[in-house]
Amino acid sequence: MDSKKYDLIIRTDKAYLSSATNPKDITVRSCDIGIKSGKIVEIKDQLDPATADKFYDATGKQVLPGLIDSQVHFRDPGSPQKEDFGSGSKGAILGGVTAVFDMPNTKPNTSTVERFNEKRETVAKKTFCDFALFAGATNDNSKELPEIENLPGCCGIKIFMGSSTGDLLVSEDQYLANVLRAGKKMISVHCEDEATLEARKSIAIEKANPIAHPEWRNEESALKATQRIVSLAREAGRRIHTLHITTKQEMEFLKDCKDIATVEILPQHLYFHAPDCYEQLGSLAQMNPPIRGIEHQEALKQALIDGIVDVVASDHAPHTLEEKSRTYPECPSGLVGVQTIVPLMLNFVNQGLLNLEKLCLLMSVNPAQIFKAKGKGGIFIGQDADFTIVDINKKQTVSNKDIASRAGWSPYDGHEFTGWPVATIIRGVFAMENGQALVEPGFGQPLQF
Ligand code: DOR
Repeated sequence: MDSKKYDLIIRTDKAYLSSATNPKDITVRSCDIGIKSGKIVEIKDQLDPATADKFYDATGKQVLPGLIDSQVHFRDPGSPQKEDFGSGSKGAILGGVTAVFDMPNTKPNTSTVERFNEKRETVAKKTFCDFALFAGATNDNSKELPEIENLPGCCGIKIFMGSSTGDLLVSEDQYLANVLRAGKKMISVHCEDEATLEARKSIAIEKANPIAHPEWRNEESALKATQRIVSLAREAGRRIHTLHITTKQEMEFLKDCKDIATVEILPQHLYFHAPDCYEQLGSLAQMNPPIRGIEHQEALKQALIDGIVDVVASDHAPHTLEEKSRTYPECPSGLVGVQTIVPLMLNFVNQGLLNLEKLCLLMSVNPAQIFKAKGKGGIFIGQDADFTIVDINKKQTVSNKDIASRAGWSPYDGHEFTGWPVATIIRGVFAMENGQALVEPGFGQPLQF
């Protein structure tokens, strides 16, 4: 059989290429990218379109490395009314996301070797995008964690220091220290101090309104947990990734902790602020840690500009509208977001908060490096042929009817964003083009670490 030299050539006048020796070094170039067997094999000024099975002209668009959402909750197994890996990952590809890292607060929790393997096998059959899974830390599984973290598809460990959705919780120093000393992979931490949350819960019950959410789960509860885990991580000599940081005080603290801790923020904390979000959206704006006042939003933006922030992720945490309509604080916390993170971040690019090079760092190069994902993170020869192709000028309004999540809503319903993905390419295959999903469930593969 006559086989062509390339499976795909992408012609571009703006490709965001990484240096192979330092992927954080990104340059914008006009070039042709040659792809064979799912890998980037050539980057040249011009390649002959006749040498490829498929030729895609991306001139006029921006060709970014495959954008990764390194914090999603796809609820698989256990809560199919909210989401499963099929609906969640379909939202991902439609939104320009090529790979997701899924959280372990499922039913049952992903906290044993057996459950981890079972989850990977089950979700692999449903997924539209590439994926990795977190192992959940508990008070008594630290002996098993080194084995779990080495299973195929495991990106690392997740610790909940404060109670959120589900029952995963490691709140006391002795157990946290056990987890930090077990194994080697990255540990991602939800930093809210459980004792402080418990002591203040009456505020939420008395006010019975989500507007009280940032008062219950206050700034001190976040800062205290972040300071505790950094101190324990230093003692154990184990790097940590602090998830969804929300306060000015934590940023002030974390800027001097780069030796031990990387920092994630969420775009919803940059876009919404209290009290307005609760007045407009009620419990649809309720999440943990909470959306806070505008001074914190401004501090997060400044931290992004100053390079304190390493990663942006969605924390896609779907709940049904019925669940969300329960009286606060009985209504669950979490926002739908995997499908809108890329347009929302592109909208911030258009507003001048960051440039596209920085977005490539925050959602591709940095998550791949922090978690040591093989073949992902940045465009250079030898990498997986993952691309998020965007039209930075395209305007479109988010609508609940377009949301693939089973939850069926978006906090951005009716909001117009400028900058949208037009194609999602995973290992050389078009998973999405012009808003249409083009791959079948089961196309996605577990990442290697
Ligand atoms: O708001 C949240 N929802 N924060 C979390 O930490 C968990 C998530 C969920 O799983 O619903």
